[in-house]
Amino acid sequence: MASIIFLILAILLCSRTSGATSRGGGLFEASAVEKHEQWMSRFHRVYSHDAEKASRFEIFKKNLKFVESFNMNANKTYKLDVNKFSDLTDEEFKARYMGLLVPEATSSLDSYNTVSFTHENVTETGESMDWRQEGAVTPVKNQGQCGCCWAFSAVAAVEGITKISKGELVSLSEQQLLDCNTENTGCGGGYLWKAFKYIINNQGITTEDSYPYQTSQQTCYSTRSVAATISAYETVPQNDEEALLKAVSQQPVSVGIDGSGAAFKQYSGGIFDGEYCGTYQTHAVTVVGYGTSEEGIKYWLLKNSWGEQWGENGYMRIKRDVDAPEGACGLAQYAIYPLA
Ligand SMILES: *[C@@H]1O[C@H](CO)[C@@H](O)[C@H](O)[C@H]1NC(C)=O
Ligand SMILES: *[C@@H]1O[C@H](CO)[C@@H](O)[C@H](O)[C@H]1NC(C)=O
Repeated sequence: MASIIFLILAILLCSRTSGATSRGGGLFEASAVEKHEQWMSRFHRVYSHDAEKASRFEIFKKNLKFVESFNMNANKTYKLDVNKFSDLTDEEFKARYMGLLVPEATSSLDSYNTVSFTHENVTETGESMDWRQEGAVTPVKNQGQCGCCWAFSAVAAVEGITKISKGELVSLSEQQLLDCNTENTGCGGGYLWKAFKYIINNQGITTEDSYPYQTSQQTCYSTRSVAATISAYETVPQNDEEALLKAVSQQPVSVGIDGSGAAFKQYSGGIFDGEYCGTYQTHAVTVVGYGTSEEGIKYWLLKNSWGEQWGENGYMRIKRDVDAPEGACGLAQYAIYPLA
């Protein structure tokens, strides 16, 4: 059903954009050439030959057109901008920069529905929370061209609970998970619960400094000294933003989300509303807070792993308490957090 709706939306969108092409197409073409050149120097993009440049330009132009026509609608609560992903098709983008695998809803308790929800009785969630202000969030990292969002999301959640329980914020190693968590498949994708399980079984995880990120899977060096440990992980009851609120009021929480849409890809700020995305979880991020915008829109604060140039300095505010139980872009379907 959702995919049919998406298809219809996509068709509507395509026909609208092609309508815009016929009017003033030449002007757009000329300015697109110039914007592509500017974009290439801004993002240090070098193409090996003219044919590649020509085909990348066609993709860039499509993305640019999407961004510009989107931004013309003053009613939107968020803005888009061309960014380092703007010469990639949505398919290429999805293949290179995500990497979440989600367990089937019917699979074992171990992997999905942990029985207990430690934060179930939390009553004081307050109006807002920003774990960055509590010093529980490390600077935004960059997974680069490696589908290991699962490692970045899990590590951010462990960094958070470690700060909350031990009082010290330490940047931890995604590379250790990438190399040593062989139950996951490195840059080919992974499960959040398996990342937490590895840290439990390995009796800890080391620092980013002692085991820095390489953007590819390498030989495992598991003997580096331990900087943080966790004892367990739990999932938040599914499709329940109220339960997610209770959890995030207590600690940063890893979530699966559909990050593959054209708007998500080029989001540059404001409250994202889940438009142009589905509910199939392609990407993992970490929810590090929530609040209400000046315009009165409730939002979740997401820490992403696409560097500081994406979104609001690497973060996204995305609409909270939406009509659909699965949340905007499906973010309430699979939320998981570690315990100290
Ligand atoms: C913006 O919102 C106004 C008021 O709801 C509406 O009349 C108008 O059609 C909207 N514009 C677009 C481009 O959707
Ligand atoms: C929540 O409260 C209920 C009722 O008092 C209690 O049975 C349950 O153990 C509590 N849950 C947790 C995780 O403390």
